[in-house]
Amino acid sequence: MDKIVIEGGNCLEGSARINGAKNAALPIMAACLLLNGPSRIKGIPNIVDIQTQSEILRNLGGEVKKLDDETLEIIFRDGENSDKFTAPYELVRKMRASICVLGPLLSKRRRAKVSYPGGCVIGQRPIDLHIKGLSALGAQIETTEGYVNASADKLVGTNISFTGKTVLGTCNVMTAAVLAEGTTTIEYAACEPEVQDLANFLNKAGAKITGIGESKLTIEGVQELRGVDYEIIPDRIEAGTFMIASAITRGDITLQNVRADHLSAVIDKLRETGVEITITGNEIRVKGNTVYHAVDLMTVPYPGMPTDMQAQFMALLCIVEGKSIITEKIFPDRFIHAAELRRMGADIRVDGPSAIIRGAPFLSGTEVMVSDLRAGAGLVLAGLVAKGTTHIHRVYHLDRGYERLEDRLSKLGAAIKRVRV
Ligand code: EPU
Repeated sequence: MDKIVIEGGNCLEGSARINGAKNAALPIMAACLLLNGPSRIKGIPNIVDIQTQSEILRNLGGEVKKLDDETLEIIFRDGENSDKFTAPYELVRKMRASICVLGPLLSKRRRAKVSYPGGCVIGQRPIDLHIKGLSALGAQIETTEGYVNASADKLVGTNISFTGKTVLGTCNVMTAAVLAEGTTTIEYAACEPEVQDLANFLNKAGAKITGIGESKLTIEGVQELRGVDYEIIPDRIEAGTFMIASAITRGDITLQNVRADHLSAVIDKLRETGVEITITGNEIRVKGNTVYHAVDLMTVPYPGMPTDMQAQFMALLCIVEGKSIITEKIFPDRFIHAAELRRMGADIRVDGPSAIIRGAPFLSGTEVMVSDLRAGAGLVLAGLVAKGTTHIHRVYHLDRGYERLEDRLSKLGAAIKRVRV
């Protein structure tokens, strides 16, 4: 197992290129199940979750081939492998997002058997809304022996109204509806850029989806979808993480391949804190300041503050004088990193879905443990500014979603390395 070791205190400077979005790539890869013929998808990050998704697709009979460092070719052909419809526990347990094969499998192969995803440290992660939406389209779904077993003679378009916003739930219903008979509407659909990217991908392949980016999606069923060439949107969470790396080290970093329009809430909150941000086309320059102001923030569905940026903001606010309050509206228990940050000297009190942070004059390096991907990002950011040495254990969580994070931070001037233990 590896650990990351950081000598804190270096100011980060230079430029970094942001990769394609993990959370767009995963459902788009799954949606290739719906397409006849090869697709070439560019902007795929080199991370463990992508390897897991590739294995799941190969297991379902797909050909998944790396064409270059950031491009995957994925081939499914109509009429082939129709007897393969299982995503087994060994693979699903590595990555909860593998649930996004449920909609495409049901649509294309009329059967899906997907290991029921368990909860995780960020919360309970139910899938009742996925099941409700797919059932409304005509699927019979039951859970037996730890698997979601779904089947349908045919799927028929209908009006679905979600009672809560769900990113992957929206993806699953959308992918099931694209080849269904008739028209489906999804009210209270998730509007996240990653959901929009999936819809744009499907439309390029021949689907008829309108209302993309709005909370009502309309999907007119079509007969066939064909393989396409497509480029994934830049990862807004990776960009936000690097933005805070610049802010927390009072550095000056320019990020390339960024969609500032996907980051409005993050940019506004960083500016409110006192960080200088300049946007030029698809580049963002983030300049740290000597004085920052305490801020309050609340995680909500897009276009509000993403829950996947909560831990990184918490790390920053730990060193900002005054009282800041973070309220977590998406995953109210997603605060395990607070206890690790406290070990570094942070003053954080968790009260239900809120964390009250009183800025400390400094953080100090120590041994800390990563509990999930974004918690890990928060701890790395804290380590960059802490006095002394921070040892970050269980970095496999980080590798699930960030490509060579330590190399890229090191190029910007951080004293950071990976050590085999
Ligand atoms: N929810 C339900 N019922 C459902 C589904 C969700 O009650 O059937 C609730 C959840 O408990 C949660 C809220 O709805 O309170 C939102 O969950 P959502 O379904 O939107 O989460 P997800 O689709 O499983 C994706 C991302 C997460 C990100 C969340 C929220 C992917 C692969 N994962 O998960 O990303 O935190 O949306 O934006 O897209 C990460 O990248 O580190 C990560 C965890």
